[in-house]
Amino acid sequence: MRTARFTDRVALVTGSTMGIGLAIAEALHREGARVVLNGRTAERTARAAEELAGDRTDRVLACAGDVADEDAVGRVVDTVLDRWGPPDILVNNAGIPTVGHSERLSLARWQRCLDVNLTGTFLFSRAVGAAMVARGTGGAIVNISSVAGIGGLPYRAAYGATKSAQIGLTSTLAAEWGQHGIRVNAVAPAFIRTPMTEFIVTEAAAADAPTGDWTLAGIEGRTPLGRMGEPGEVADAVLFLASDEATFISGATLPVDGGWTAFGAWHQASRPMPPAHLD
Ligand SMILES: NC(=O)c1ccc[n+]([C@@H]2O[C@H](COP(=O)([O-])OP(=O)(O)OC[C@H]3O[C@@H](n4cnc5c(N)ncnc54)[C@H](OP(=O)(O)O)[C@@H]3O)[C@@H](O)[C@H]2O)c1
Repeated sequence: MRTARFTDRVALVTGSTMGIGLAIAEALHREGARVVLNGRTAERTARAAEELAGDRTDRVLACAGDVADEDAVGRVVDTVLDRWGPPDILVNNAGIPTVGHSERLSLARWQRCLDVNLTGTFLFSRAVGAAMVARGTGGAIVNISSVAGIGGLPYRAAYGATKSAQIGLTSTLAAEWGQHGIRVNAVAPAFIRTPMTEFIVTEAAAADAPTGDWTLAGIEGRTPLGRMGEPGEVADAVLFLASDEATFISGATLPVDGGWTAFGAWHQASRPMPPAHLD
């Protein structure tokens, strides 16, 4: 077992009641961090925190709040500052998918996707970044982008735009806050097995037919390593970027994608089906 890299550091992970965010929170907790969990509802956030804490309730804090709500973000960060002081690590993970034909995408769905995925990343970075700057001992921010922010994934106009913009925000903040010892990086996962993508796996198992725009076989065929990723594999990359093993890495976007981004050949399975039942 590896030595704990985050003993007594404070880490805030947005959108950490399940999926990739929960895996990141669990990994940070395992390696000694005090972890702040976040989700939209108090009930779900408290339940995830109870399960993670076990009998060590002093090392896990549940702070519910919608990342797209400026007041809620302020309340979450104030609670953390009161309890534990400025976070050493911020992981901007909360995100929602928005899948559908771009020519029919409503402004409301476009806007909600931008509000959660991009504005949420900005609001938490601004609030936590200000506290890190004021404390003067640096920090690490990791944003969870996507391969959809690097290359085009059809039927994801809003999602892809937010994930590209997160990479731009990562570069900008890295350039601006490096003078304060704050490192800002991103990871770009391909398809990962979480509640967000569960439908791909369950529907593919139920019927050998296209489900939504990507079949499980299509994803596996398009991925050089031949499979979807696991949340723990994203967590491993995030912990590396947040750790003292990455003290000279800032402004980077690390694909965690089984070779998805590197893949340049034409492949039958790479032609997604229109998402007829998804919008
Ligand atoms: N899964 C993939 O294949 C994949 C690939 C590339 C990138 N990503 C990115 O990875 C991140 C996590 O994805 P995931 O697959 O783990 O998603 P998920 O299984 O749907 O989990 C999303 C998490 O975010 C929380 N959340 C959603 N909206 C929120 C909001 N407005 N405010 C606060 N919390 C919110 C949810 O908590 P509550 O429901 O309790 O509020 C949940 O904990 C996202 O940014 C996603 O874009 C995922």
